[in-house]
Amino acid sequence: MKTVKDLKVKGLVVFVRCDFNVPLKDGAIRDDNRIVAALPTIKDLMAKGAKVVLMSHLGKVDHKDPEKCEADKKKNNMAPVATRLAELLGTKVVFCPATHGEELATCVKGLKEGEVMLMQNTRYEKGESKNDPALAKEWAALADAYVMDAFGSAHRAHASTYGIPEVLKAEGKQTAIGYLVEKEVNALKRVVDVKEDARPYVAILGGFKVSDKIKVIERLIEKCDKVLIGGAMAYTFAKALGNQIGTSPFEEDQLEFAKSCYEKANGKIVLPVDCVVANDFDNPTEIKVTEDNNIPEGFMGMDVGPKTRALYVSEIKKAKTLFWNGPVGVFEKEEFVEGTVAVCKACAELKDAFTCIGGGDSAAAVKQFGYKDQFSHVSTGGGASLEMIENDGHLPGIDVIGE
Ligand code: 3PG
Repeated sequence: MKTVKDLKVKGLVVFVRCDFNVPLKDGAIRDDNRIVAALPTIKDLMAKGAKVVLMSHLGKVDHKDPEKCEADKKKNNMAPVATRLAELLGTKVVFCPATHGEELATCVKGLKEGEVMLMQNTRYEKGESKNDPALAKEWAALADAYVMDAFGSAHRAHASTYGIPEVLKAEGKQTAIGYLVEKEVNALKRVVDVKEDARPYVAILGGFKVSDKIKVIERLIEKCDKVLIGGAMAYTFAKALGNQIGTSPFEEDQLEFAKSCYEKANGKIVLPVDCVVANDFDNPTEIKVTEDNNIPEGFMGMDVGPKTRALYVSEIKKAKTLFWNGPVGVFEKEEFVEGTVAVCKACAELKDAFTCIGGGDSAAAVKQFGYKDQFSHVSTGGGASLEMIENDGHLPGIDVIGE
């Protein structure tokens, strides 16, 4: 696949799709990891004398309800990203508040070689998420070349991730993947297609909903030697297998799937054998550890218990390849961090294994607990890395770039 290294772009306008969907609180960026990860591609294009136009979505914008739409736009304004980017690059970044029309065209045309511009949130445009051909055409008409460096958004076939490169390729213009996408693809290949000598392959899946992860659970059962299931989704499995789960959340409509999936997995799925439970999620006044995987009435599961931690650690220790998506407990609350910390520590202690974090909350957890640097790869894309596994290494935003 063509990468940004292969492009000849001196004096050309290069549109670069980044994933600057960063967590914001009151307009302040809480984690700039995704911005930092995009710097190698941006710097390379600047050094080559390109006129660099960066674009990304930020949050969601509801275009059905006009009032909500305005509130979403206000909340998800891209301007703070331009400020942080300028600090990181040590150079001016032009912020274009428009996403279409004359104002956008003027901003793009005003760029000089080596200069960088960031466009307002692509989701200000109603047509972005629908891959509206007219929008893709308008954006493509301003670009001489395109670089896909938004790994976290590569599972979305939107106007900025799919429509633009499709138009430009048909016109014979240059398209390529960026350094971040190249690094992600090379790393994730190792958990998509695992060679015999890289086994045992162990996956840890946590998080809230079984329904969000049905396909990936099925694929991981095919690909892995063991799949450790924790987090809130474990309660749906526990209930499906006839255990008591107290007031823990579960998905009624996934019980059948969970039961048949567990049976089909034939011993590959490892479920918690005890739990740390509390009488209330927000203000727990009673916290205890269960004897087994049954949770008493009036209590909800908040973390895996000590026996489960030991069980997980013993499975993790055997791994030569490991993929982890989703914390195994409510790690945001200090009373319930132990399960997730035990997983972090066991993975970090693995020698000669390939350990990969599939973005999202588990990436936040390894960072929070200080283990980030001890993993082989921490992906910038949660949904994208899961879909990559589901689709055997294919994502629309990367496939469209082609050879
Ligand atoms: C992410 O944060 O997972 C990506 O930026 C994709 O965001 P989306 O789910 O809103 O498309």
